[in-house]
This record gives sequence, structure tokens and C-alpha cells, in this order.
Amino acid sequence: MVLHVVDKIEIRSPHDIEREEFFQIYKSGLPNVDPISYDRFLNWWIRSKENGTLDSLWRVARIDNELVGVVINSISESLKWGLIWELAVKPGWRNKGVGESLVRESQKLLLQKNPALTHFALGVKAHNQRVLPFYERLGYGVRTLVVCCRGPSCFATVENTTLKSATSNDMHHLTKLKPDSYWSSRNADGWLRVIQEPEAYAVRIQKKNTLIGFLRFEHDDGYENTTAVNFAFKTGYGVEVIKSASNHVGAGYITFWVQVDHQDILEYLYDNSFQYVESEYLLLKKISLHKQS
Ligand SMILES: CC(C)(COP(=O)(O)OP(=O)(O)OC[C@H]1O[C@@H](n2cnc3c(N)ncnc32)[C@H](O)[C@@H]1OP(=O)(O)O)[C@@H](O)C(=O)NCCC(=O)NCCS
Repeated sequence: MVLHVVDKIEIRSPHDIEREEFFQIYKSGLPNVDPISYDRFLNWWIRSKENGTLDSLWRVARIDNELVGVVINSISESLKWGLIWELAVKPGWRNKGVGESLVRESQKLLLQKNPALTHFALGVKAHNQRVLPFYERLGYGVRTLVVCCRGPSCFATVENTTLKSATSNDMHHLTKLKPDSYWSSRNADGWLRVIQEPEAYAVRIQKKNTLIGFLRFEHDDGYENTTAVNFAFKTGYGVEVIKSASNHVGAGYITFWVQVDHQDILEYLYDNSFQYVESEYLLLKKISLHKQS
């Protein structure tokens, strides 16, 4: 670590005037951060400003009046995890301690915001394995893998399920569903928020009207002509739930992100012309208040 640079780093919440520069540095982290269009980034920024998280959890690093790094943190209240997301350092400023400073500062912020957190969490794309020692040095370890598969949007014949916009009347059942991967775990508040978003559906078995799952469709900024499908399911109905997404999206292709624990779902997808496109490791660090470093 180059000490004279670390001493000069100023870390603070971003100002409105830095929005475009923030986005440029974020994009310099591709393909190791999540692809996002400027419009969606702008919406995210505005939403975060309104709910206060831009101020409390987004950070920029500046050195001598230059913006050199960014990070977007968030909290999963249902998992009690502090999420350190979308960390990127401007290419000419890498390997000088900026990334490490942003991670350490993020940990402090997250704990200040919610002292009940049990873990810090982050995702590392599988193609970015070289960064693992950087996080391991900071106390993180790989726990699981989430696989992204892409395939044709009409991949199954749907016979016995129906899709209807999810409503607050479904809450009792929604809160019991299993998520496709750790990052879509939600508590009751999270569910209330997500069902207000567009294209959020409850999946039911037609005959019995039993709720077996949830689907949400969103344009996938990472691939052309593709809808990203987020899902959750009642135990034993995972395959039925993903099948019910077939033919319901306008785009030609679908992406699903599936944690490797759900082997039956992955097997079904690979059996039906889906292909692996990428994956992401989940790294966790247990929070020990005595050992914070
Ligand atoms: C990962 C990243 C944020 C690290 O920021 P940084 O300011 O360079 O990090 P630091 O200077 O604090 O630490 C750098 C250390 O991590 C290692 N490292 C980080 N990323 C690395 C990579 N892709 N390949 C090899 N080594 C890497 C360096 O070797 C260095 O180790 P050293 O101190 O023993 O020499 C930065 O490289 C970056 O923006 N990468 C592109 C986006 C990205 O990968 N984001 C992380 C998503 S999980």
C-alpha cells in the first residue's frame, strides 16, 4: 500500500454535480460491476437521494480534487447483511490503496446505519477471480456461487399455472417463498416494495388457486433483446414457477440468476436450451465487533 496516497484520500457522500463522473468511474469497473444504462443509473441516484441512502451509503473517494473511486452500499434487512456493491477505482489510480479504503469505510458506514448486522457481503464475478485475494486479505471468504443462464423466452409449455399481478393480499404466502438466490431474500417490507414495481406477478396453480411462486420481469441491461427474470418459489415448485415465465415476456431471451443450491432448476434450464453466461461468487465476512478492522 502506498501510504502517501492513502493519507490524501477523502471519502464522502457524492454531490449532485459529480453524478456523471460517478457513472463514468462506475463504468470503468465493467465487466466486473453490473452493467447499467445511464437512465437506470439516474433513477437509482434519484431514488437513493429521496430515501437518504445516497447520503448515508453511497461514497466517492477523492484525491487532490479528483474523483478516483466509487462504491454503492446497501443493506439487506431480511438477511441482516451489509452489502458492499459496485466498487470501482479509476484505472490510473488502482493499486494505491483506494479500493481498500473504500471497503473499510463502507464497513463502518453499514454498521453505523444498522448495528444489528451480522455479516458484510459482496459479489465477485467468476471472471474476476484475481480480485479474491484482495477481499480475503480484508477478511472475506467465498460461500456460494450464483449462476446466470440465458435461453429463449418460449422454453416451456405452460398448462396449469396462472400469473396475476401480486398484491398485498398475497403477502402471507409471499413471505414464505424461497428466493432464486441470496440477494433476493426479502422481509415483509421488501415484499411490499417489490410488488409495487411493474411486472411483479404471483404464480398460482390454476385448479387449486394455490400460490406457488413469484416472478418479476425487468429489462436486462447486460444483454440484447433479453428480460431478466427474478423469481421465488414454494418448496417443491421451483421448476413449475420458472416454467410459468415462458411466453410471458416480450423479449426473445430470458436470463435467470440461480444459486447453485437449486440443482433441479439448473438441470431443467440446461435441458431446455439455456446456456451458462456468467456467475458470481458470494463472499461474506462475519461481523465480530471486537475484531473490527
Ligand atoms: C478491485 C478494485 C476496486 C481494487 O481497487 P484498488 O484501489 O486497486 O485496490 P487497492 O489498491 O486497495 O488494493 C489492490 C490490491 O488488490 C489486488 N487486486 C485487486 N484487483 C485485482 C485484479 N483484478 N487483479 C489482480 N490483483 C488485483 C492488487 O494486486 C493489490 O494487491 P497488493 O496491495 O498486494 O499489490 C479495482 O481494481 C477496480 O476498480 N477493479 C475493477 C472493478 C472491480 O473489479 N470491482 C470489484 C467488484 S467485486
